[in-house]
This record gives sequence, structure tokens and C-alpha cells, in this order.
Amino acid sequence: MKGIILAAGKGTRLYPCTLPVCKPLLPVYDKPMIYYPLSMLMKAGIREILIIVPEGETETFERLFGHGEKLGLEIQYAEQPVQRGIADAFLIGESFIGGDCVCLALGDNICYGPAFRRTLRRMGNRVREKGGAGIFGYYVADPRPFGVVEFDPNGRVISLEEKPLIPKSHYIVPGLYFYDPQVVAFAKALQPSSRGELEITAVNERYLEQGQLRVHALDAEYTWFDAGTAERLYEAAGAIKSAQRSGVMIGCIEEIALDNQWITLEQLAAGAASLHQTRYGQYLEALAEDRAEEQ
Ligand code: G1P
Repeated sequence: MKGIILAAGKGTRLYPCTLPVCKPLLPVYDKPMIYYPLSMLMKAGIREILIIVPEGETETFERLFGHGEKLGLEIQYAEQPVQRGIADAFLIGESFIGGDCVCLALGDNICYGPAFRRTLRRMGNRVREKGGAGIFGYYVADPRPFGVVEFDPNGRVISLEEKPLIPKSHYIVPGLYFYDPQVVAFAKALQPSSRGELEITAVNERYLEQGQLRVHALDAEYTWFDAGTAERLYEAAGAIKSAQRSGVMIGCIEEIALDNQWITLEQLAAGAASLHQTRYGQYLEALAEDRAEEQ
């Protein structure tokens, strides 16, 4: 399965912060925003990743991740010159996807919770083995700014709607989507919506019509943010700060690479040394020491 991170948004809802720096590189507490969606793809076991960045920004992202060598990943970049909506990721990424299954993560979405690794792998395996699409549902108080999914009393999906004025449920669809190879053809057949975008919700509706959409509702132990506005960015940073007080590290891509056996302890320690002045670096150093003792 391939992975795509759509990190090409201009972040107009975060101006003036995003005038000089693009949104996925803004800090969310102690790391760049893009670490969080990248960590989700890595937890799902995905190593081949395309990052779609704004026009002219490839070098900036390369400075951060190179081509993924330090994380045991293969990272490629593509630029999105014109913002045409989320489903455009499958048109830009068509040759990268190359007839494989694909998981798309939005560059401003942050999600974590217990057993997320297992949940992601299960969803990925299901799509790979049985085809179709797999998405998630997450309960929020005000679902109006998001894609909303409606369930029947047996938990089956009845409808999907993008930014409904009167939502039919409180379950929104987070920006993490698993698809079989049909997704490219579905994206190609889309017409822009009334807001001029190729909507991801329209892609999910195609799968729903075919009886091939699986939605997994995340329980209350999960935390999800779309960090696209100042308020939500601030809330996300606070939530991550307090979650990390208990000693776990959210969005720690080096730790996930180590757990997946994509990098060695020596590689982890080398990366940690350059971050020594930060809690993040000290966490990695302690992790390297603990793991070395366990061996
Ligand atoms: C997009 C999707 C929406 C989804 C949301 C998650 O919204 O269109 O369905 O629920 O991401 O963050 P947008 O970022 O375009 O407002």
C-alpha cells in the first residue's frame, strides 16, 4: 500500500502565520504539523510516501525529511500548483500509486489513541484483501465544517455529506482514507463541487453506492483535530502537551520507524543527538538507551 500526504493547502485560515511558512510546517506544540499525519501512515505500516506540497515548496520539505532515508522511508514529492480539492491528490499521484492501494492523510489532521496501530493495520489489510474503501468516523460537538457520516441503528452507513448546514449526525470523517486502486478512476470522473473542489466526500459516496465503503467509528478514547484554524491549532497543541505529560510521545516518527524495524538503534541515537537541546531529542535519547538495555 502506498501513502500520500496532501500538504499543499495555502492555509488562508491561518494568515498571517502562513504567509511566509506553509501550514503543514507550522509547529503543533513541539514538532511540525506534518509529523502527525506522517506518523499515522507509518503506524499503518506504509513506507512509500508521496508528499504533495504547494508550488515551489519541494526544497523546504526536502530540508526536513530528505527522501526519508533517516526514517527508513521512500519519500517523493509532487507540487500542486492549483488547489483543486482533496481528490486531486489521486490525479497528481496517479503514477506514484501505479495501480496499488493507497492511504491518503491530510497534512493538517492529527489523530491519536490507544491501539491506533492495530486499528490502522486492520483497515489497511481489509482494503488490500477485499477492495473498496475504509474511512473513520469521529464524534464532535459541531460537525458542520466537515464531512459528516450518518449511521443506521445497526451501525451501517446511510449517507455522507460535505459541510452540511443541518448535519444528520455528530460523526465527522477525519482526513485519513484507505482506498483500493479504483480511487484514481473515481477521482478522474468527478466534477468540481459548488465550492469548486474535487470533493473527497464525493469519492467516498461512489464507494458507498457500490456497497464498498467501510466506516470504523473511533471511540471516545481517541483524540482528533483538524488544525486548520488558529483555535484548533492552539487546542491541538495543548492536548498534545498534556497527553505527553504521561510520558508517551505523540507523532514520534523516529520511534515508529524503530518499532517497525525500519531503522536501527544506532540510526535513532544519531538522529536524537542533533535534537539534544529539546525534550523531543531527550525523549529519543532515553528511548535509544532503554532499548539498548533491553537488547
Ligand atoms: C476536509 C474534507 C472533510 C473532512 C475534513 C477533515 O475538509 O473535505 O470531508 O471531514 O477535511 O479535516 P476541508 O479541510 O476541505 O475543510
